[in-house]
Amino acid sequence: MKNPWLQIPFQDYENHMREVGQTQMLSRLFGDCLKRYTPGSIALIGCATGNGLEEVDPAITRVIHAVDINPAYLEQLNQRFGQTIPGMNIQCLDLEVDPLSFSNVDLIFCGLVLEYVKPDVLIPELLDALSPDGALVIVIQQTRNTAFVTKTQYRSLDLLSSFAGTVSGAGLYELLSNLGVKIEMQYDVPLNDNKSFRVFHCSKNRISS
Ligand SMILES: C[S@@+](CC[C@H](N)C(=O)[O-])C[C@H]1O[C@@H](n2cnc3c(N)ncnc32)[C@H](O)[C@@H]1O
Repeated sequence: MKNPWLQIPFQDYENHMREVGQTQMLSRLFGDCLKRYTPGSIALIGCATGNGLEEVDPAITRVIHAVDINPAYLEQLNQRFGQTIPGMNIQCLDLEVDPLSFSNVDLIFCGLVLEYVKPDVLIPELLDALSPDGALVIVIQQTRNTAFVTKTQYRSLDLLSSFAGTVSGAGLYELLSNLGVKIEMQYDVPLNDNKSFRVFHCSKNRISS
């Protein structure tokens, strides 16, 4: 089956995400991470068209790995940020099957991706790519009594309804713990009455090599 993300035009994606308030929240969370960790290198996993990259200070962050499955999204990202942020490494990968080709990254931000790529496949890859003192930040969506993908006028997003899988916060916590990850903090950010983001900040401190 063709990945439905390849069939969603970037304009639909962006308009939908902005309308439901997720663009703004993800950008804010990513910006908070940049301030907290002042990373020399980052990886933005499932980066789409580059939401949040406007928060990067190129004087601090010298290397940026931006990964997504959709080449049209990445083309937009390149047009918007390719000239203004040096050190941009844009990679079109299917994270379900393609290995990451970078390592030693200070901050890996993975926002709303585990709903589409199996956590037990992706998280070990992310840990391999993380520097020994790096931070892995994961954002998942938690939903109560409502559709996982909010209906908007952008009907191409309907393709995701049967594809997206809710990630249980408790299940993710258990997986991270089983992988030897130290969960430095975990918190919820409300989006509306029925949806919130759960945010995990993780380190490899407990993993012995
Ligand atoms: C909900 S969006 C992520 C939101 C984005 N991080 C932001 O801040 O706006 C999910 C992204 O993951 C990408 N994606 C989904 N499945 C993927 C896969 N197998 N490999 C790589 N990227 C994937 C999609 O193309 C999409 O851009």
